[in-house]
Amino acid sequence: MIQIVEDKIFILNGHKITYALFVNKLGFLQNLYFGEKVDNNFLYSLQEEWDKKTPAADDLNKDMYFDTMPSECAFYGRGDYNEPSIIVHRNDGSEMSRFRYAGYEVKKCIPALKGMPCVRGGGESLFVTLKDDFSGIKIVLHYLVFDDFDIVARGCEIINTGNDCVTLRRAFSFCLQFEDIDYSLLCLSGGWARERAPETNKLGHGITKIQSTRGISSHQFNPFIALVKDDCGEETGKCIGFELLYSGSFSLCAEVNGNDKLRVYGGINEMNFTWMLHPAESFETPQILISYSNNGIGYLSRQYANFLREKIINPQYVYKERPIVINNWEATYFNFDEKKICEIIEAASKLNIDTFVLDDGWFGKRNLDNAALGDWVVNETKLKGGLNTIIQKCNECGMKFGLWFEPEMVSEDSDLYRAHPEFAVGKRDIEPARSRTQLVLDFTKQEVVDYVFNAVSEILKTYQISYVKWDMNRSLSEFYSTGLDYSRQGEFSHRYVLGVYSLAERLMSAFPDIFFEGCAGGGGRFDAGMLYYFPQIWTSDNTDAIDRCKIQWGTSYAYPISAMSCHVSVCPNHQTNRTTPFSTRGAIASLGATGYELDATKLTDEEKNAVIVQIDNYKRIRDLIVHGDLYRIRNPFSGSEFCEIVVSKDKKSTYGVYLALEDSSETQVCLSGLDQKYVYRDIKTGVDYSGKLLMEQGFDIPILKKYETYVFELKVL
Ligand code: DGJ
Repeated sequence: MIQIVEDKIFILNGHKITYALFVNKLGFLQNLYFGEKVDNNFLYSLQEEWDKKTPAADDLNKDMYFDTMPSECAFYGRGDYNEPSIIVHRNDGSEMSRFRYAGYEVKKCIPALKGMPCVRGGGESLFVTLKDDFSGIKIVLHYLVFDDFDIVARGCEIINTGNDCVTLRRAFSFCLQFEDIDYSLLCLSGGWARERAPETNKLGHGITKIQSTRGISSHQFNPFIALVKDDCGEETGKCIGFELLYSGSFSLCAEVNGNDKLRVYGGINEMNFTWMLHPAESFETPQILISYSNNGIGYLSRQYANFLREKIINPQYVYKERPIVINNWEATYFNFDEKKICEIIEAASKLNIDTFVLDDGWFGKRNLDNAALGDWVVNETKLKGGLNTIIQKCNECGMKFGLWFEPEMVSEDSDLYRAHPEFAVGKRDIEPARSRTQLVLDFTKQEVVDYVFNAVSEILKTYQISYVKWDMNRSLSEFYSTGLDYSRQGEFSHRYVLGVYSLAERLMSAFPDIFFEGCAGGGGRFDAGMLYYFPQIWTSDNTDAIDRCKIQWGTSYAYPISAMSCHVSVCPNHQTNRTTPFSTRGAIASLGATGYELDATKLTDEEKNAVIVQIDNYKRIRDLIVHGDLYRIRNPFSGSEFCEIVVSKDKKSTYGVYLALEDSSETQVCLSGLDQKYVYRDIKTGVDYSGKLLMEQGFDIPILKKYETYVFELKVL
């Protein structure tokens, strides 16, 4: 609910949170409060305190006040020595701005951003307009709040109402100041095959910056951070989260300044970013989802999971039963023909797997990773009878068919590149930087996006395809387009992302019945922006159950488990060479959108039976995976155990997986999220436990050998 008091205090109340801002007596918009829900009187007293600290309007030194003022939009060149959230470069070279409050509007509906993922429907929006004293730039800050969530979504639109062209040198989505600096910063860091490991570092004076400069949100840092108190645990303690709805280069910063204030800000990475605004043009920033929890990081994660499911992910698919796929990548890599694929399909169908996904290598002259990207025509030399043979086999076996694409890339050895070298990013007279022997298509060019749309659509129209895996296997390096004027090259990075979003939007609208899975060399673009289009994303190329439990654990800090694509693969594992029990691989993969990444024809009878049982069990719990709440019970990063449980919204069903990372003796794990009053029956043993006992004394885990799991289901009957 949004309340406006005396046209100058704006109070946004969510489920258990309050976000308040006000116009100070100098006419500037500053933050008043963000945290646990408070009553208005408390906010009024805070405002009085600020009024006392605010200099008089005629005080000549007042501009230095901006250095300590909790600006809702920090401007540049007027004595605020923190990093600004916006820098406007005018044609006389000056960059000073002073944004003053100019009005507000409250709307019931949430306006969609143009060409970018954004919060879908519901809630109330506050629009606050600021005007620059020195130029024709106007900023409309928007805030969305929801009665049933502890999340405020923020963003802004920058409008040039003047007569001269200006260039934005920075356009962050938000800025928020805290008086308390005693926090650690939690981020999700990593690399290929070790994505999103939670890392917490105490904030000292200076700037802590989490960023991607790669044109994708990246394996290295995820666009999510949280401020956490020292005593913040899974279910207790205070933390504040920031999750950006963006899939390109980003930065999220926490700055503790010499005034002992903490500013958090971020959005599109300012590196490689400028944006020209002609008169009457405007620029929209991505949205940031800001959340507060006084009940630990677990509660914060569930807020994000619920919010992404309800407000971001495609509603057509978010709660739909996910297909159980088998993918041939680790089974064959590029080495397959139609015979081999049909054998895998036949074997998989006997195991009750419902969808076969044909991965990389089905098109052009693609027999290795050095050719044919961009040539989206079936390689009929490799696949005799083309895709029809394979689809027919799927039909005969009662399975659906999915197909892999890498729409944003081109190989130099491809018909597309030979015909259109100008479709690749970069300058023709400078040798391109290669990665996986491929170049990036210039998605800032409409004709390139159109070409890819038509080529991919042709395949999707021609064949019976129910599932698409959209891969992206390299970071961008040359942020340069031959289609952009020299003064607009700084727009390349963001325009590329807009091109990706526009292709995703067009394909999804043209083929609404196809389920799209995202992927970027594993989990290199696992972000809320991508989830707007793809209900699930391939979490990591690392399918080793031991590493995966950590990757999935970290990913769950900011994303629902139903968004994580998780597959069982063979051992020794192709990425780590580790051997783990088949049951462990199944159990870890069951904590997400489960599937298989192996050659079903090579499974032993025992493994085949295991798959049948795993799928049977998964079908029983998959409703919990898409609707339920995750509770992280034992942290694999800080001990020798992993345990997570998923609890239904009505608290009557629970599914849990415990994994021993070392040989372990009998132990108990205290569960969370249950109802103390309920009696839960362990479905396997028939033993009844009270919710109180399970949460206070714990659930019994038997003796386990290293890498064994114990899977349990508890139900209120
Ligand atoms: C990277 C993906 O993460 C893999 O699953 C696979 O699709 C390969 N690319 C194919 O090139």
